[in-house]
Amino acid sequence: MSGFEILERDGLARLGRFETPHGAIETPALLPVVHPDRERQPVPPREMRERLGVRAVITSSYILWRTPPLRARAEATGVHGLLDFDGPVMTDSGAFQQHAYGSVEVGPEEILAFQGEIGSDIATVLDLFTEPDTPIADAERALATTLERARAARRERPGLLAVPVQGGLHPGLRARSAAAASDLGDVLAVGGVVPLLERYRFVDLARVLIAARPALGPGSAVHLFGTGHPMTFAFAALFGVDLFDSSAYHKFARRGSLMFPDGTVAIDELRDTVCHCFLCAERPLTEVAGLSGPDRERRIAFHNLLVSIEEVGRIRRAIREGTLWELAERRAAGHPALRAALAETLRHPEIFLSTEPESRRAFREIGPESRERPAVRRFLDRLSAYRAGRPPALRIERIAVRPEFLSRLPLSDRAGKPIYWDAMTPLGPVPLELTDLYPVGPYLGVDEFADPPRHRSPSDVAQDAARRLGTDAELYRDWSTEWNRRQVEGLLEWTYGRAAASGLAERITAERSRRSGRLKALRREGPILFHVGTDGVLRPSLRGAERVRAAVPLGRHRLVVADDAVPFVRVGRSLFSRFVVAADPALAPGASALLVDRDDRLLAVGRLLLAPHEIPRMRRGVAARVTAHAGAPEGLPEPGDDAVDDGSLPPLDGRA
Ligand code: GUN
Ligand code: ZN
Repeated sequence: MSGFEILERDGLARLGRFETPHGAIETPALLPVVHPDRERQPVPPREMRERLGVRAVITSSYILWRTPPLRARAEATGVHGLLDFDGPVMTDSGAFQQHAYGSVEVGPEEILAFQGEIGSDIATVLDLFTEPDTPIADAERALATTLERARAARRERPGLLAVPVQGGLHPGLRARSAAAASDLGDVLAVGGVVPLLERYRFVDLARVLIAARPALGPGSAVHLFGTGHPMTFAFAALFGVDLFDSSAYHKFARRGSLMFPDGTVAIDELRDTVCHCFLCAERPLTEVAGLSGPDRERRIAFHNLLVSIEEVGRIRRAIREGTLWELAERRAAGHPALRAALAETLRHPEIFLSTEPESRRAFREIGPESRERPAVRRFLDRLSAYRAGRPPALRIERIAVRPEFLSRLPLSDRAGKPIYWDAMTPLGPVPLELTDLYPVGPYLGVDEFADPPRHRSPSDVAQDAARRLGTDAELYRDWSTEWNRRQVEGLLEWTYGRAAASGLAERITAERSRRSGRLKALRREGPILFHVGTDGVLRPSLRGAERVRAAVPLGRHRLVVADDAVPFVRVGRSLFSRFVVAADPALAPGASALLVDRDDRLLAVGRLLLAPHEIPRMRRGVAARVTAHAGAPEGLPEPGDDAVDDGSLPPLDGRA
């Protein structure tokens, strides 16, 4: 069924590829709403593609159907011919007109068949638009009808199908609707939200997404109907919305409103040059304000569309870089309604935790909400598990985990009792041995600048320790060997649990970067068992993975590979979702996993692209990229290129 594949991700947000009969849509993508009547369409779709790089559009099959001359042309030339656009065209069904005018005159079978006749790439089920104030009994009845129509449509239509998610503001109905849509749709189209967006009821939009998201299947593209203003795109993307559609670029243009990612400006109030895009270079907006009629509307619409497309581009880059939360927080700062929606979202970290990546390259504090990000929540939860059963720690100012400091910080008192140290960080006290880990490691916040850490020398650190420990302190010896051990054991425990850590740490020597002093690799009698990324995360080599396999319980830290794929994974090919037999549910996207066969023989080490619970639901694409592999066993031929569709993606290794 679905042609959706995930290529990269940041939490629930993903970069994906959605295959259609008229080519692939790279998601997230904006599908501009195009009026099927050329006379009423300010920017022709062909121009959208040629000048703005628009790859796909959406139009209303209902308007076409009920307008005889347009309908005749669409029936003769197909919707692509009518629109003069040969990229993917999604068609909507008329539910929006039901919202706007109270009813539609077409039946669900008829409009579905019509969408097929005119060659729509993605047809939409005729749903019943549920208004936000609809009482639950009515909303439930409407949903039952929508679902009945969706099931019938799925039986009728072999092509791609968008199934709307309705349910009003009733969380249970939204969840039920999302789950049912996921079984039927290639596109899961969250609907009924336009009245919320128009009135800045972004908190209610958040509630809709919070209710629907956990039930939306990961293997289909998620569409948000009527995500008009670009200021809301990043927020929606946090929930994994892949497709936005917008008629707002045109609606705003009609009333002379210029859209920007941080708000709206009335063109008649414009006195200064605010934009230097290629359109404004042609003719500045201050001049456009003085135009009249269609030319003015057209230029404003063009500007609005450009701004919307640019914002989608920023979202794509943020997903690639792992900075989408930062972008969403910056956008939230643009409007209190969005901040309120973000606050509502942060009350539900559970939505995000299961897809939170193991680490990201950066953590930049944007506002007070930054410290509430799911990444922080997860770190602090894991930290309390790590602390359980440990004696209380002494607190010191944050210092770099480098030999010159560590050598002066005692790890046991004169009586031989161990001493634990917590460094004070923006996220609270954190065991010193873990302070290179994401999110505390790369954390960049206001504290750093408001109250800059004094320059501290190793002897400052020693004095600090002496103050804490009194006469018990033993400051005149070198503690680096003990610290290496503490940090190695700490990281192993953080990753593989307390039971496995001390065995894994046996005879390990720590290698530090000569420049930064940070841990770089853990070796055992020469060979590397673990690389330590700049994110502080342990990445096992094949040898390390073999030791992990023996040290942790069966099933843990593993993906079990189906027999068919074993020869491929063994020689370093990506592991595709459909060849995963089982996955440890505790693994996070981005984590290193052991790829084993059904007899628990180690084939390779891989980096997870997906969360374990998503893997069985993906019909396409990579589950893990191999970073180290065992190689073909003696005598076995190497697999040919044709048996498995190769990921042809660079290994994640190169990005760390
Ligand atoms: N366009 C805007 N909102 C909706 C909706 O809820 N359903 C459909 N089919 N189209 C829409
Ligand atoms: Zn401009």
